[in-house]
Amino acid sequence: MQIRDTDFLIIGSGLAGLTAALELSRHGKVLVVSKQEAAEGNTRYAQGGISCVVDPDDSMAQHIADTLETGNGLSEEAAVRAIVEGGPARIAQLEAAGVHFEHRSDKPEEYDLGQEGGHSRRRVLHAGDVTGGEVIKRLLERVRADANITLVENWLAIDVVPTGWIGLAGPNRCVGCYFLDKTTSEILAVRAPATILATGGLGKVYLYTSNPDVATGDGIAMAWRAGLPLRDMEMIQFHPTCLYHPDAKSFLISEAVRGEGARLIDRRGREFVYDFDPRGALAPRDVTARAIDSVMKKYGDPFVYLDISHRDADFLQKRFPTLYKTCLQFGFDMALAPVPVVPAAHYSCGGVVADVDGSTAMPGLYAIGEVASTGLHGANRLASNSLLEATVCGCRCAEKISKVWKNNSVDGVEIPRWECGDAVSSEEAVVVEHDWNEVRSVMWDYVGIVRSDRLLRRARRRIHTIREEIRSYYREYLVTADLIELRNLAAVAELIVRSAQCRKESRGLHYNRDWPEKNTVADHSIIQDKPGGPLN
Ligand code: FAD
Ligand code: SIN
Repeated sequence: MQIRDTDFLIIGSGLAGLTAALELSRHGKVLVVSKQEAAEGNTRYAQGGISCVVDPDDSMAQHIADTLETGNGLSEEAAVRAIVEGGPARIAQLEAAGVHFEHRSDKPEEYDLGQEGGHSRRRVLHAGDVTGGEVIKRLLERVRADANITLVENWLAIDVVPTGWIGLAGPNRCVGCYFLDKTTSEILAVRAPATILATGGLGKVYLYTSNPDVATGDGIAMAWRAGLPLRDMEMIQFHPTCLYHPDAKSFLISEAVRGEGARLIDRRGREFVYDFDPRGALAPRDVTARAIDSVMKKYGDPFVYLDISHRDADFLQKRFPTLYKTCLQFGFDMALAPVPVVPAAHYSCGGVVADVDGSTAMPGLYAIGEVASTGLHGANRLASNSLLEATVCGCRCAEKISKVWKNNSVDGVEIPRWECGDAVSSEEAVVVEHDWNEVRSVMWDYVGIVRSDRLLRRARRRIHTIREEIRSYYREYLVTADLIELRNLAAVAELIVRSAQCRKESRGLHYNRDWPEKNTVADHSIIQDKPGGPLN
């Protein structure tokens, strides 16, 4: 088995991972690994933008207050403060890397700020309606030009390597990670004093999601198998407005469209959201998604409408060029008629418990970006706060590692060969495909926007059986990329269900019909199991 050495190993090339890479390259050799092409990941698809206090009429205190209110009692104020206050320096850094945030045409010295749900004012910097794409493009240019950074594509991280798994004496710590090279099908290991999980989200656990295919929750599953605590895994954010069209793959229609006055109406033309919240279409996402779900169920409608037809095509083409064009390709002219929309799984507010600087419970292992639970989002994420978190925490993590990485020496550490079965199954592809679809359907049908004890029990039973099946496959057969991702997807599904079953209340994104009230005391749901070892 090939073993590679590096000073800093970063798994994931989204905003969080690339930010950390660029900051760490001043301190040593960086290896950034991505399981597909480097640009692929949730960051690339971010539309609305990045929230940050830049307007003199806005204030840190107000952004913090909006974040805490949306977080419904589960946000950690110190983390919120650190991340919100870290914003302006990071925006300056992104601009220095070449990202162009839009300015107002009437006052060019001011940013053109978008408005999104839960924000008490306009606060979202954007690069047209393709903010994430612009950010990733510019950062990748920088990373590729940096002699201290090596970027490897098509390597899939399988499991991190805690010393406890490889029989090393002393306190448990992380010394690297096993990977599957998808181009050669070989397994290799990377040995590093600092390993960063920057693996993004888990939207693919659900049948309908705004996330791309890489979002299979790998980092969360790896951390859980290594025995790390996970927090608030039941807090899955459903984006209220994805395009309803069989070929659109839940294409997202940015909340910024509602920020420019779009209304949510049912098929009878009624603006139903005011029945649920006085802020209407600009209420936080948990409220809006639940309102849509309830109207769809009440009338048996497959979608509701998003209507911005009071704005002309000129305005829409300038402000939302990609959105406007994409909708047009599917036969919807936003300037002429309402567009059919449905909610879809969008963001994981919970994750691996980590400080704002990425530190986790295991020395040598860090978690940043969507994979982490820093305490910023609590029970619901304020729109456009995740890009902010990814860049602030990516930078803070690099600062932290630069000070401590030499304490986690990996000199002389032997990483054993990866052990797995050696059979090749002709049935594997069809079984993987079937289990994959079943997990995602079960999660959508039973663990969606509105949950109940009975549905959660049913989901737990189904997923448990699927996990048993995957385990036996994993022991007997050669591991493939599909099998590794399925194993992670099913593990994360079970973790979401277990967390949801722990919460005997409804709060933020978690609504359980059997426990409709909010408890007076806000508690995190924590899952920490004994380290399972690579075969778990
Ligand atoms: P990602 O950008 O998802 O990157 C994860 C990386 O990890 C990828 O490179 C992936 O290939 C890699 N990876 C994963 N598993 C493995 C593995 N096993 N081995 C190797 N590599 C692996 N947030 C906002 O703040 N504003 C917005 O406007 C906004 N709009 C959004 C629109 C859409 C459609 C979506 C899906 C999300 C949006 N979000 C938005 C959320 C935001 O984009 C993400 O939360 C954020 O980009 C996450 O960044 P990240 O670096 O943590 O992860
Ligand atoms: C959007 O543009 O609506 C997505 C913003 C976000 O998820 O933060």
